[in-house]
Amino acid sequence: MLTIALPKGRIAKDTLEIFEKIFQKSFVFDDRKLILHVGDFRFLLVRNQDVPAYVLHQSADVGVVGLDVLEEQESNLTRLLDLGVGKCRVCIGVPKIRKLDFSLPEIKIATKMENITRKYFSSRAIPVNIIKLYGSIELAPLVGLADAIVDLVETGSTMEQNGLEIAETIFCSSAHLVCNKNSFISKKEEILALYTHIKNYILTK
Ligand code: PRP
Repeated sequence: MLTIALPKGRIAKDTLEIFEKIFQKSFVFDDRKLILHVGDFRFLLVRNQDVPAYVLHQSADVGVVGLDVLEEQESNLTRLLDLGVGKCRVCIGVPKIRKLDFSLPEIKIATKMENITRKYFSSRAIPVNIIKLYGSIELAPLVGLADAIVDLVETGSTMEQNGLEIAETIFCSSAHLVCNKNSFISKKEEILALYTHIKNYILTK
């Protein structure tokens, strides 16, 4: 039995579709249930940012999680495979009418991703004051809370509709299959079998 932590929303849906295609069975959570058993798999439905904790503490053997979350949390997990779903970019967004001046003594950045932001700006020796927010990040520069944002961009609509534009792309993200080191040893055959199934499916898609 393999336990797999999935992040609620689009990535869980896309991942379960991959399982349906590979195993030719239905993989659907009942209404509000957070656990799904199908054959030798048990799926857990958790918050995106919580996937690494479930896998790291071995409540799940493997997980599916965005590269953005892995980079932000710097979790000690084994990255097995890029699933090619949940594609987005981590970008710096700035107001169109007020381009960012990177030579300011300090730039105020609003973001959910403090570590990614700190690392990126420190690698460029640009001093930043990070304002940690939990959502609606695009609002911050519009009301003077920050000069710019670091946020996820998928379609670009949220930035566009709020008068922001991408100043720089920090990196591209997508959902990755990860596992903890203990499960990778104790359930190596099962994990590698799943890895091979998914990899072959992605290659033939
Ligand atoms: C994410 C992200 C952007 C938006 C980008 O927010 O933080 O705000 O999606 O998507 P787009 O490029 O397709 O417009 P989310 O919807 O998760 O809500 P949040 O603001 O509450 O984090």
